[in-house]
Amino acid sequence: MASLTIRKLDDAVKTYLRLRSAKNRRSVEEEVRVILRELIEGREEPLTPFAVPPAASSSAPTQQRTSAVPEASVTLIIGGGIAAYKSLDLIRRLKERRVEVRCVLTKAAQQFVTPLAVSALSHERVYTDLFDPQSEFDAGHIRLARDCDLIVVAPATADLLAKLANGHADDLASAILLATNRKVLLAPAMNPLMWNNAATRRNVAQLQRDGAVLIGPNSGEMAEAGEAGIGRMSEAIEIANAAERLLRPPVPRPLAGKRVLITAGPTHEPIDPVRYIANRSSGKQGFAIAAAAQAAGAEVILVSGPVDLDDPQGVTVKHVESARQMLEQVQAALPVDVAIFAAAVADWRVANEGEQKLKKTSAGMPPLQLVENPDILATIAKLADKRPPLVIGFAAETEHLIDNAKSKLARKGCDWIVANDVSPATGVMGGDRNTVHLISRKNGAKDGEFAVDSWPVMTKEQVAIELVAHVARTVTDKSREPAS
Ligand code: C5P
Repeated sequence: MASLTIRKLDDAVKTYLRLRSAKNRRSVEEEVRVILRELIEGREEPLTPFAVPPAASSSAPTQQRTSAVPEASVTLIIGGGIAAYKSLDLIRRLKERRVEVRCVLTKAAQQFVTPLAVSALSHERVYTDLFDPQSEFDAGHIRLARDCDLIVVAPATADLLAKLANGHADDLASAILLATNRKVLLAPAMNPLMWNNAATRRNVAQLQRDGAVLIGPNSGEMAEAGEAGIGRMSEAIEIANAAERLLRPPVPRPLAGKRVLITAGPTHEPIDPVRYIANRSSGKQGFAIAAAAQAAGAEVILVSGPVDLDDPQGVTVKHVESARQMLEQVQAALPVDVAIFAAAVADWRVANEGEQKLKKTSAGMPPLQLVENPDILATIAKLADKRPPLVIGFAAETEHLIDNAKSKLARKGCDWIVANDVSPATGVMGGDRNTVHLISRKNGAKDGEFAVDSWPVMTKEQVAIELVAHVARTVTDKSREPAS
């Protein structure tokens, strides 16, 4: 069979292969194999590397062998120690967690496990040589160092730790470790005397200062007969769990266990069965707050007037039309820990709502009598028993923003007011950005003393995240002034 030397191909072909393989996170050699396989199967990809589907969906051979599409990738450096046999199990454990694993074996590691075994388990080619012409023509060690989410060294021998601590790069493993900008997880394995040696102690301390994360070593029996102590490599499952914690750190959920009620959108106040009074509120800000509170772990009830938005995931949404229906749903949602009233509730409704469509008559316009709607915010803020510990209102103003917002806060009895200028020139109504001021009563201050925190212009999502962060800190502090 003829062999193909990639180095000798035309420059244009080499460039194409380099771009395409980098995009698909394969070695150039593997990419050529994929292209040939696709040609034979009659489903070749388009000739521009930028039109190639992402690796996860285009990597047919990998997909056939793993049950799920990989979500993260690890470069696993296997050092030369007897614990290297556990790294074979580690490959499996990582792949079970939907992690793609590309392995590098040091020269010494090959005394303990073979590239063939590692390749069979990882379903990828194995890298062993810094000066491998096939992978190095496109700086393979740099790709191995950076085209991954995490580097795991297992076993991390005393020698590898020393090289890494001192910045050596005389083989593929140490060159990758020096060239990476990814987090490095080290699973040391060595004889207890080596682990306790002053040089290793210094190296470990240096590596920790440099930001490397260590798992183990555990204490127990050594491979050497009759020796025991600290130095056994952690079990594969422990290393895989540590890798998973670094790859998918737990999301902070500061509002876990809290119930948050939010109103959003306009209300529609019927004139007759086909007409209504409304306003220009889009509901975007309230919906963004609901999504941010849900992401922060809260149980969220969103009472929304008519809007053209999808319900945020994981949020209980009550759809209403009028102010009175909104009040009903808000009352039904109590008790809650936090209530945020972002809805643009119509101040008035038609007292004499027509049962049938109002007709034009020669007598002129039908007389529409308006009556005031219930003020939902004020009603809830002034409750004697079920008042939520933190009640937040919004003030959409077109003039005297801060002064109007302060008097609104006092009049309605809420704890904070989020004030925003909605004059047409700002584009806030229906737009995606908002400039807000958070106004609160100062802790322990006399009536009429307020704290004003002005935020820069932000997207409505950013305003929501910022507001929820203030809420989370304040709810935990049990203070009513926004904790900064
Ligand atoms: O009085 P104004 O409409 O400016 O007050 C704005 C604040 O009061 C907002 O938080 C809004 O949701 C709330 N509000 C209410 N019920 C009303 C009117 C306003 O909850 N009827």
